[in-house]
Amino acid sequence: MQPFRGCSVHAIMCGIVGYIGKRQAYPVLVKGLHRLEYRGYDSAGVALINPSGRLNVYKSQGKVSDLEDTAQNQDLTGCIGIAHTRWATHGEPGYKNAHPHLSESGRLAIVHNGIIENYAALREMLIGQGRTFKSDTDTEVVVQLIEHLQEQDHLSFPQSVQKALQMVHGSYAVAVLDKQQPDTIVAARKGSPLVVGVGDDELFLGSDASPIIEYTNRVIYLEDEDMVILHMPGQDCASGRAEQAVAQIMLMTIRGERKTPQIQRVSMDVSQLEKGGYDHFMLKEICEQPQSLRSCLQSVKQTLSGTDAERIFSLLQSANRVLITACGTSWHAGLVAKYAIEQMVRVSVDVDYASELRYRQPVINNGDIVIAISQSGETADTLAAIDMAKKQGARVLSICNVIGSSIPRASDEVIYTMVGPEIGVASTKAFTAQVTVLTMLALVWGHRRNTLDDEHYTYLMQELDSLPDKIAQVLDHKEAVRQMAQTLSFASSCLYIGRSYNYPVALEGALKLKEISYIHAEGYPAAEMKHGPIALISQEMPVVTVATSSDIYDKLVSNIQEIRARQGRVMAVVNEGDTEVERLADVFVEVPRVAECLSPIVNIVPLQLLSYYVACLKGCDVDQPRNLAKSVTVE
Ligand code: G6P
Repeated sequence: MQPFRGCSVHAIMCGIVGYIGKRQAYPVLVKGLHRLEYRGYDSAGVALINPSGRLNVYKSQGKVSDLEDTAQNQDLTGCIGIAHTRWATHGEPGYKNAHPHLSESGRLAIVHNGIIENYAALREMLIGQGRTFKSDTDTEVVVQLIEHLQEQDHLSFPQSVQKALQMVHGSYAVAVLDKQQPDTIVAARKGSPLVVGVGDDELFLGSDASPIIEYTNRVIYLEDEDMVILHMPGQDCASGRAEQAVAQIMLMTIRGERKTPQIQRVSMDVSQLEKGGYDHFMLKEICEQPQSLRSCLQSVKQTLSGTDAERIFSLLQSANRVLITACGTSWHAGLVAKYAIEQMVRVSVDVDYASELRYRQPVINNGDIVIAISQSGETADTLAAIDMAKKQGARVLSICNVIGSSIPRASDEVIYTMVGPEIGVASTKAFTAQVTVLTMLALVWGHRRNTLDDEHYTYLMQELDSLPDKIAQVLDHKEAVRQMAQTLSFASSCLYIGRSYNYPVALEGALKLKEISYIHAEGYPAAEMKHGPIALISQEMPVVTVATSSDIYDKLVSNIQEIRARQGRVMAVVNEGDTEVERLADVFVEVPRVAECLSPIVNIVPLQLLSYYVACLKGCDVDQPRNLAKSVTVE
C-alpha cells in the first residue's frame, strides 16, 4: 500500500444515518446525527434527493448544529437521504473533507465510516482514467470507483457498489445514493458497525440503533461484508407518491450471496437519549448511577445464576491465568478487577491496554481466559486484541454495555452491564457498572471455587446491593464537591493518589479531569510519590487523595503527611466519620463506608462530579470535549 502523503484524511470513527420512506428525510437525519455525535464532531453533512430528483448536499465544519445553520433556508425537501458526522484522524477536518462525497458527475453521494487501505492505488488508477478528485479522503475514492464501474462496465447501481467493495481493502460502513434511483439506498459494512431499522413503510440506517429507536424497535445488525439494498419501489419522491411505498430489504454479501435478514427487537428507552432536564449528559449519567447500578445488579445476578452462568463458569473454571484487556476508562475497571479476582479467586491476572497487547508478543496459552471490557463494544484495539488472543488459543469473556455490538459478537461469552446508552464522552455510569459486574463475577467465581468462604461471600453480596443507596448519598454532597472544584479550576496541573483498590480510582479521576477540563492530571499509587512526583509538590499543585478506609489506611495517612510537610494542598475523599485525613486535608468530601473491595464504585462518584464542575467553571464543552470521541473505532 502506498502511503498517501501530505494531507491524507480518513473518515474513521464517524457516525452514519440514512433514511428512505414516507417522511421528510432531513429532520430524521439531523436528529440521528445529534444522537451519533458522540462518534465525532469535526464536521457534518447531509445528502438529500429532492422531489425533482436533484441531489442536494450540505456540509459544514464543526458540529451538527453548524450543519443546521448552514442548511437553513436551503432546499431540504426529499424523503430519501444519507448523513454523516465525522472525527478526523489525519489532516484538517475542513469543509472539503466533510462527507457526503460526490462522484465526479455528481450522480452519486456516499457517507463512510472506516479506512480504505488501498485507496492510494485505486486513486491513482482512477486518475489514470481521467477522474479528478476534490477532497483528500479515501472515501471519495470509493464513490468515484462506483461511478467508474457504472460507466465502464454498465453495471446497475447495486452491482457497481458491490463490485467496488470487492476491490477495496480495509474497513467500512457505507451508505450510497444514486440520484437516478431515488427509491434506493445501498449500504454495506466491514469492520465498522451498521444497523438497519425496519419501520412501517420506511427504512433507516444508523451506526447504532440510537438514531432509529424512536421510529421503530425492529432492527437488523449487519454482519461483516453484508450489503443491503433498501428499496421503496412505490416511492417516487419526484411525483410525491411516497405514501404508496412498500419497504423492501434485500440482504446479501458483497459477493452477491443472498441472505435472509434477521430482524431483532431492541429495547431502548428514548428518554435515555435525552438530557432529561440536566444541563449535560455527563451530569445526567453521573446522577442516574443509583438507578443504572440497580439495573446492572439485577441483570448480572440473573446472568450469574441462570443457564448462562454454567457456560460462563465452565469457561472460567479452566483458567490458569486471566488476561484483562481494554482501553481508557474500561482499562481502569480492569485494574480494579485484577485486585478483586486475585483476592477472591486466587487466579493470577494481568491487565493490558488492548493497543499494547495486540502488538507485543504476549505469552498466551490454551486455557488462558481473556476478559475484554468495553462500554461501546466497538473499540478497534480491543476488538483486534480479542482476535489475536483467540488465534493464540485463549477464550474470551466480554463485559460490554452495548447489546449486539462487535466485541460481544467476537467473544465466547458476554455479560452486559445494562446501564442504557451512555452519551457523554467521558465515561461515568459505564465505569461503575463495569466494576460492579467484574466484582460480582469475582465473588461468585471465588465462592464456587471455595477461595471465598460463605460468610464473606454473603456479606459482600449484601454490600453490593447497598451500593445504589450509597451512591445516592454521595450525590447529596454535590455542594462540597462544587467547592473543591472552585480551587481545582485554577490549577494547571494536579495529582490524584490512592492505594490498593483505589489506585485505579486515582487513575480514573485524573483521566476524567484531563478529558473534560483540559487540566493536566496524573494518577499515582500514593506510596510511589516519593519515587519522583513528590518533587512536583507545591502550593500550585493540588493533590486529590482517595483516602477511605482500607487495610493500609495508616500508610496512606503517612503519604498525605509527606505531602503536607512540603506545603502541598490536599483535597480528600474520606469516609463519613473520618478524623485523621479530614484534619490534614484543605478540603474534603465524605462518602459512606463500604467494604474496601467495593469502595471504587462509591469513591469514583465525587471525582466524576469534581471533573464535571471544574469543566463547567472553565466553560468547557462537557459532553463533547475537544479532540475526543466516545467510540474509538480506529486503532
Ligand atoms: C474512548 C472514550 C472513553 C472510553 C474508551 C474505551 O476513549 O472516550 O470514555 O473509556 O474509549 O471505550 P470502550 O467503549 O471500549 O469502553
